[in-house]
Amino acid sequence: MAKKINDFIYYVGVLNPNSRISDVIVKTDFGTSYNSFLIKDKKIALVETCHSDFFEDYLENIKEICDLDSIDYIILNHTEPDHSGALKKIIKLASNAKIICSKAGAIYLKNILNQDLDFIIAQNDFELDLGKNKIKFISAPFLHWPDSMFSLLENKNFKALFSCDFLGCHFCEPGIFDFKIKFLSDYDLMLENYFKNIFGSFKKYVLLGLEKINGIDLDFIFTSHGPVLTKNNLLGSVIEKYKIWASEKKDTKNKYVAIFYCSAYGNTFELAKKIKTGILERNKNLDVKLFNIIEHDLNFLRNELNKSDAFLIGSPTINRDAVAPVWNLLTGIDAINNKNKNVAVFGSFGWSGEATDFIFNRLKDLKLKVFEDKLKINFVPSGKDLESAKTFGFEFAKSFV
Ligand code: FEO
Repeated sequence: MAKKINDFIYYVGVLNPNSRISDVIVKTDFGTSYNSFLIKDKKIALVETCHSDFFEDYLENIKEICDLDSIDYIILNHTEPDHSGALKKIIKLASNAKIICSKAGAIYLKNILNQDLDFIIAQNDFELDLGKNKIKFISAPFLHWPDSMFSLLENKNFKALFSCDFLGCHFCEPGIFDFKIKFLSDYDLMLENYFKNIFGSFKKYVLLGLEKINGIDLDFIFTSHGPVLTKNNLLGSVIEKYKIWASEKKDTKNKYVAIFYCSAYGNTFELAKKIKTGILERNKNLDVKLFNIIEHDLNFLRNELNKSDAFLIGSPTINRDAVAPVWNLLTGIDAINNKNKNVAVFGSFGWSGEATDFIFNRLKDLKLKVFEDKLKINFVPSGKDLESAKTFGFEFAKSFV
């Protein structure tokens, strides 16, 4: 059902309370929404579309407010398919609408729609006059794709920012607005989770994005997921949280080394402990932590891995491979911000011992700085093997401190 926000703006998006995962990897414990908005003025603009799975509901929402062929513009601030998925069907019905997007967005849309269309490319500061409302487009790349931009709506009585994913959150709020949220702690949890998963790799761009809207007296922020942010409620605090999370600096005094391992019979664990000893012998001020992968939540471990200054991965070999929990952890590496990070590999094996080689190659492929020695011990580590593990830790630490 469409909802009126004010005299000009209508919510026509779709709620998905049953969603539990988005983009394959992001948890959505409290559902999500695919927000889309109609600005009804002398000219009519539709901002974002929605996920293709919800096209029928979405279409009904739009039809409650206007005829499809009366839409003049469709603004795509970001072209990922959770926002552009319904576009192909919508443009068949909204045949008079021109699509407005960034230059990068136009390239992506050509391949998403498999159609050549005349896009209006919104350069930075490009303005669109709808009548009583004007929209200024603000270039904001890498939030979180190269295509992303903001649309700033200026009306004599209010100002609103359409920010797509930026400042958003996977949280299904049937009341649409932030002041309707009943379980604020759940929202806060999902907001932070969303930031970490979507914007954690793009902190520099988050700060640039915030700078671009700094000083604008906004009444609303219309994100593409989660509740509408309003001036007297969460708008300011969400901006402030993004600023804090994007500005977090590492403790440069005490470097953090994380040792992640799985151990079938305790042998890889014994190696991990000796490696830690060796690392601390090299520099006792290092902060070295051991994590048995199967005992922790994967998102927690990925966060530790990504924030570490260096890390090690230990795995036994089972069925000629590293074990599944290790691979699950490795799929969460932020390859952009971990490029050239110091890493090392170790493990005990029984028969063939492929795990360390496979992990080593995987980390190299991701362009991390992999310590050339691999510590590979057959079955139960002897006293000599444990000494080797200590030396391995010492030498690894020596390579970066
Ligand atoms: Fe909600 Fe980047 O898409």
